Amino acid sequence: MTTDAFHIHPVSPLLGAEIRGLDLSQPLGDATAAALADALDRHLVLVFRDQRIGDADQVRVSRHFGPLDKAPITEHGRLHAPGFEEVYVISNVTEGGRPIGALGAGESVWHADMAYLETPPYASSLYALEVPDEGGNTGFISMYAAYDALPADLRTHVDGLSLKHDSTTNSGGYLRQGYEAPVDVTTSPGTVHPLVIRHPVTGRRALLLGRRPYAYIPGLSVAESEALLDRIWDAAVRPELAWHHRWRVGDLVMWDNRWTMHRRDPFPEHLRRRMHRTQIRVPERA
Ligand SMILES: [Fe+2]
Repeated sequence: MTTDAFHIHPVSPLLGAEIRGLDLSQPLGDATAAALADALDRHLVLVFRDQRIGDADQVRVSRHFGPLDKAPITEHGRLHAPGFEEVYVISNVTEGGRPIGALGAGESVWHADMAYLETPPYASSLYALEVPDEGGNTGFISMYAAYDALPADLRTHVDGLSLKHDSTTNSGGYLRQGYEAPVDVTTSPGTVHPLVIRHPVTGRRALLLGRRPYAYIPGLSVAESEALLDRIWDAAVRPELAWHHRWRVGDLVMWDNRWTMHRRDPFPEHLRRRMHRTQIRVPERA
């Protein structure tokens, strides 16, 4: 598909599109920004390649989609790019013995960002400054497709259930500062959301799973909740539902955090990976 300003090239049958013809170091017009938001709604993940942008550009582009969060508190405290509190540094690089970013070099499990909030973030952008030669790819799953792919009996079963999303642990498996590891998932900190959510315009249903560790389905015993969650997750994160982005320096990837999950492959610790992320809140119009 082509708009006045850019071309949209889907990268997989289930989700993802490469946006060609835009230089994100230049101002975006309102019409172009609205067309991008529409493309994000339809394709869920947008990939802009060969961009040469700074933090100010990433913040400016991101603000077209909604208000920005500050960088979150991580296992190393709050790590943001110098001068930009909204730009979260994700990196395994250390300088002067101190980590410059979060999440190390390990795998991050399938998750949506901050689904434990009352209103989870709308979207994120991730810009690649340094990437390893191997590993470190980011996978995405459409949660519409994950819902559609559930066995029929399971799909009927999950409609109407809720899920408690754990707030103690980040996607790298690290405890957030100030939290203790949950002992009892029925009482540990978290936020309850419907397990199945619907797009406000299309009505299409999607699973809202957040992340697996310490999740709990209220009303069930812990054993029942674990067994049902295992079944749902096994069905939802099947490899054939996922698309994986292989990073190049200069890639900016945006994803809609509400209707997708993502994960990261591990990579060798001695290789450098340095990414800058913004996180976008749900705007008034969405
Ligand atoms: Fe994430």
